[in-house]
Amino acid sequence: MAFGQPRIEYKTTAQMRTMHQAGLILDDALGQVLAAASPGVTTGELDAVFAAALKAAGATSNFLGYHGYPGTICTSMNEEVVHGIPGSRVLAAGDVLSVDGGAVVDGWHSDSARTTIVGGPGAEDPADRRLSDITEESMWRGIAAMATGKFVGDIGCAIDDYVSAQPGKRLGILEDYVGHGIGTEMHMAPDVLNYRSKHRGPKLRPGLCLAIEPMLVRGGLETATLADDWTVVTTDRARAAHWEHSVAVHDGGIWVLTAADGGAARLAPLGVTPVPLG
Ligand code: MF3
Ligand code: CO
Repeated sequence: MAFGQPRIEYKTTAQMRTMHQAGLILDDALGQVLAAASPGVTTGELDAVFAAALKAAGATSNFLGYHGYPGTICTSMNEEVVHGIPGSRVLAAGDVLSVDGGAVVDGWHSDSARTTIVGGPGAEDPADRRLSDITEESMWRGIAAMATGKFVGDIGCAIDDYVSAQPGKRLGILEDYVGHGIGTEMHMAPDVLNYRSKHRGPKLRPGLCLAIEPMLVRGGLETATLADDWTVVTTDRARAAHWEHSVAVHDGGIWVLTAADGGAARLAPLGVTPVPLG
């Protein structure tokens, strides 16, 4: 154990199965929120959709009450990067909306986020579509590195390499916020950087569960927190996107706990076949 580093919680297969239950409930609840995210709907209404979905499935929220956080999801719009608080704000066509949520079953946590553009393809600025698509694919590249790599640092390298290789205007990878271990708490060791660093980090090994969550911006990397003490915005007001999945490394391989197919569809083109928990 490196000096000063909190120790990592390695899970048994049975524990990861419970995290998977939490992940599937979360996947369904986020799906319901995105289906409801139309022009004219408020972010508070989306929070109610999510809360009802967790309740119906018998799960609880890890966001609600987290350091006093007042919602069950974060709804971050446009220049808001993460931690936007749901409320009376009304969605408009063309808004970039990131929804981040979590669910807990029997004390085991899941955490996942998706970005959507309100109003569908006809309402999209192509630069916003590109932002969300590159952010999402960078997340899948990071997830694939959990199967093909050796160290947690390989995840950030894969994300960084993919973003850097995109033609056209360079998107920024936020450094102020990072992914994390997850298990009996939402945020645990280790940190998962979304960029290349000289620290290779801990070894990827069975029992490790990580939330992989790149946050990309169309402008500069500087962020600020609004007076509500939560909402993180880019200081240049450039738009941001955020995608996140919770992923398990187990004896047989990796499995995306917060995707119904374990990540199979998006990992196949990357040469990775997720393996169900034994
Ligand atoms: N789920 C966020 C993350 O991805 C953290 C949300 S904190 C909350 O790590 F308080 F807003 F819930
Ligand atoms: Co997270």
